[in-house]
Amino acid sequence: MKILVAYFTKTGNTRKVAEAIHDAVKQEKPDLLPVKDVQDPGTYDLIICGFPVQAHSVPVPVQEFLKNLKSGQKLAIFSTHGSRTEGQLPKEAIKHALSLARNVEILGSFTCRGEVEEEIIEALMAKSEHRSWAMEAASAKSHPDEADLEDARVFARNMVQKLRSF
Ligand SMILES: Cc1cc2nc3c(=O)[nH]c(=O)nc-3n(C[C@H](O)[C@H](O)[C@H](O)COP(=O)(O)O)c2cc1C
Repeated sequence: MKILVAYFTKTGNTRKVAEAIHDAVKQEKPDLLPVKDVQDPGTYDLIICGFPVQAHSVPVPVQEFLKNLKSGQKLAIFSTHGSRTEGQLPKEAIKHALSLARNVEILGSFTCRGEVEEEIIEALMAKSEHRSWAMEAASAKSHPDEADLEDARVFARNMVQKLRSF
């Protein structure tokens, strides 16, 4: 079974989660690569793909990556985001990401919070209409934390177990 953990990251949060996922299933000898460095995604049985939510959506390089997956491949997806995990927005972004990967078999998804860059919070705080989102984003500080990473490891092991059960 060939497994790939592919990720896009701007400030490192999603890479941290990707590394925890990779580490959790290392007995399967998965590859760990930024999406831009993946040469031939079609050769993997399971792709675990992660992205940061940006502007409520999926970063363009990840959109392109997902659109190019081959039919019959298995996909698990994860994201990091500044907004609260219980909210609707992270779910919408995952839904959108999954809709781009047509014909693949979806095994599951995982999301956790990720600290938002100080500059972005300051810029949002300056505008009254964005202030409540800025406060929410600020409360993501120090995520992903160890509990998030442990949840990510559990998710990864579940995904591999699901793959085996096919
Ligand atoms: C340009 C930009 C746009 C963002 N937009 C959102 C958003 O719409 N919703 C959200 O919950 N978080 C948003 N965030 C926060 C990131 O999703 C979060 O900090 C994430 O963990 C960053 O992951 P990374 O370090 O892997 O880039 C945004 C961050 C950036 C830099």
